[in-house]
Amino acid sequence: MPATAVVRSAAHDLRAAGVDSAVVEAQLICAHVLGIDRSALPLADAVDASGLAEIDRMVAARIADRTPIQYLLGRAVSGRLDLAVGPGVFIPRPETELLVEDALAALPAPGDGPGPVVVDLCAGSGTLALEIAHARPDARVHAVELHDQALDWLRRNAAERAAAGDTPLVVHSGDATDPGILAELRGRVDAVVSNPPYIPRTDDLPAEVLGHEPATALFGGVDGLAVITPLVGVAAGLLAPGGHLAVEHDEETGASVASVVEAQGRFGTVEQHTDLAGRPRFVTATRLGDRDDDDELDPTVRKGTTR
Ligand SMILES: C[S@@+](CC[C@H](N)C(=O)[O-])C[C@H]1O[C@@H](n2cnc3c(N)ncnc32)[C@H](O)[C@@H]1O
Repeated sequence: MPATAVVRSAAHDLRAAGVDSAVVEAQLICAHVLGIDRSALPLADAVDASGLAEIDRMVAARIADRTPIQYLLGRAVSGRLDLAVGPGVFIPRPETELLVEDALAALPAPGDGPGPVVVDLCAGSGTLALEIAHARPDARVHAVELHDQALDWLRRNAAERAAAGDTPLVVHSGDATDPGILAELRGRVDAVVSNPPYIPRTDDLPAEVLGHEPATALFGGVDGLAVITPLVGVAAGLLAPGGHLAVEHDEETGASVASVVEAQGRFGTVEQHTDLAGRPRFVTATRLGDRDDDDELDPTVRKGTTR
């Protein structure tokens, strides 16, 4: 069967099932199975029986239980990068790109002394950390993730990007809300970036999200602040004076997150930012103070493990 006819048929089935972007998804599935770029489909060879069976299987999975297209393809485009994703890891979203751009603009310029130290708390697939490491090869980028399945994807993506020539990440298995995490970096970090779990608890999410992405990646307690609040304290401990904090949040919680950062007491210049659709999306702030003004780290707090 000609590839273009296969695309038409798959797009028809997807559209009939209410899938948005049915044509693009049909193209992506067919191109994936044929091992070619989507743009090459019009000139592709006919699809053989095993190819047709695989395309049918993927279209059926997309329709039957709304498996995200990125999980079916095993990849997600993330800014300038193409990352491996699948069950157990949050799929990077385009709106997070603006936070990456903001953090890159806040880093000290290359060439002046040692490269910057950056920490990504709640790293998931590694999108923030890997984008920054890609754009700033002189940076030492640390990525912290708590959950084992997400850690597996993070390590896989970190290894892929390192093999492609990017500066390797330092991956840490640990809790981003633990005051003792990354104790060795305390007061030395130039930027902390985070896209943590932040959705206020709800059942009102698309089936692709609710039925497939891990709840531990999505929800931040009843008010969406359960992870963000302690994480802001951790960031205050890690950042050097003048260091930059950028935290993504739910579109309903921008003012609350700004209040959390202000109430933490060690940040100034707290600003709210919108995404390209004009929705409140992330908060930034600058770490106040002198290098020596930190409270001593409580020696009884658990130190995060580094694998
Ligand atoms: C919304 S996802 C974002 C992942 C990634 N930063 C991105 O933008 O695609 C949040 C991530 O935080 C992780 N996570 C949740 N609680 C955590 C905690 N206390 N410490 C570290 N990571 C945590 C989840 O497993 C998930 O990978």
